[in-house]
Amino acid sequence: MTPLLFQPLTLRGLQTRNRVVISPMCQYSAHEGHLDDWHLVNLGRFATGGAGIVFTEATAVQKSGRITHGCPGLWADSQIPGHARVAGFVLQHGAIPAIQLGHAGAKSGMQRPWFGNGPLDEHDIARGDMPWTQVSPSGLPVADGWPVPEALTLDDIKVLVGDFASAAKRALAAGYKIVEVHGAHGYLLHSFLSPLTNKREDAYGGDRAGRMRLALEITAAVREVWPDDFPVFFRTSAVDGSPDGWLLEDTVVLARALKDLGVDVMDCSSSGIAGSATAGKGQKRQPGFQVPYAETVRQEAKMATMAVGLITHPQQAEEILAQGRADLIAIGREALANPNWVLQAAQMLGLDAPFSVLPTQSDWWLEGRQRTSDFYDPDALEAVQS
Ligand SMILES: Cc1cc2nc3c(=O)[nH]c(=O)nc-3n(C[C@H](O)[C@H](O)[C@H](O)COP(=O)(O)O)c2cc1C
Repeated sequence: MTPLLFQPLTLRGLQTRNRVVISPMCQYSAHEGHLDDWHLVNLGRFATGGAGIVFTEATAVQKSGRITHGCPGLWADSQIPGHARVAGFVLQHGAIPAIQLGHAGAKSGMQRPWFGNGPLDEHDIARGDMPWTQVSPSGLPVADGWPVPEALTLDDIKVLVGDFASAAKRALAAGYKIVEVHGAHGYLLHSFLSPLTNKREDAYGGDRAGRMRLALEITAAVREVWPDDFPVFFRTSAVDGSPDGWLLEDTVVLARALKDLGVDVMDCSSSGIAGSATAGKGQKRQPGFQVPYAETVRQEAKMATMAVGLITHPQQAEEILAQGRADLIAIGREALANPNWVLQAAQMLGLDAPFSVLPTQSDWWLEGRQRTSDFYDPDALEAVQS
């Protein structure tokens, strides 16, 4: 039987070639929000490496919604061609091009990780990375020493919802087939969801329904401009990692509401509401540590989920699918180490003709080498080495 990891998944009018997704990963290397050759090569290698879906990193719907000066955007038409180049290449090599749209809220305008991962300081300013004013639900800073953001007004919220829809239209024009709304990691939408950061007393705060309102309005606006044939994903921080914060039961309620709006996949991450980490305080990062969230949402909201977080071994990924805990497996850092992870999985899980997951330019030679030599015969290797 074909390993589950290599069985296609139908999502509306699309079919993935396998269940491996390259998780969105910021590169902090865009110029005024424009992608360049780096993004093409970086994401291109994952498509030629055989992934089923390749995500372009968190892309800002407003200029001030970038995490760093190096984050890409789709707030202007001039940014479409750079994305179109990436999406076109990814599609040409058999993967589905996907994009994550977001707004970084109180965590916008920070340092690129390698310059400190904190608020911009005089060294960044000397490099030309000038600070800007952040926005958030209630004007609370991320932590002590971080800039104090402005609370969004109701008019700002209207503009924001429209800007998400406009960015989605541009993403579509660029050739992406999947759009994901970024509702995780302490960025703007997550900070509206969490009672730790949303202290508003208007319709966008208060009880869970109020705190969910912005995420739902934005997702509805994105769904409206995204074709019926193409899926919408939502990335959630399934828990804040604090008993006073956003809980898994809240995520299940959110997932049901998103499903009703036409969201196809819940992408289950966690944490990030305080500081820049994506793991909650005291939360051990063990292999598959976020899989239970994907499993619970899948069972209780009865919708497709994507598991992510320290999934590195093909057998581990296969088991997650076999146990019905998720429908898609997202790989992040392991893909940075091994962009051909899908080939490794094909070999380890015993897929027929494993090299066929690579483009013909590689497959033809690798299959031939295997057929015509004892390359994989350990005895033969030992004989050569002795
Ligand atoms: C360099 C880097 C950049 C990331 N950028 C994003 C991002 O743009 N959006 C997002 O939702 N998560 C982002 N993440 C989180 C990953 O998508 C993923 O959830 C996380 O790395 C856990 O998966 P892993 O253990 O397979 O790396 C990033 C992670 C890394 C390592």
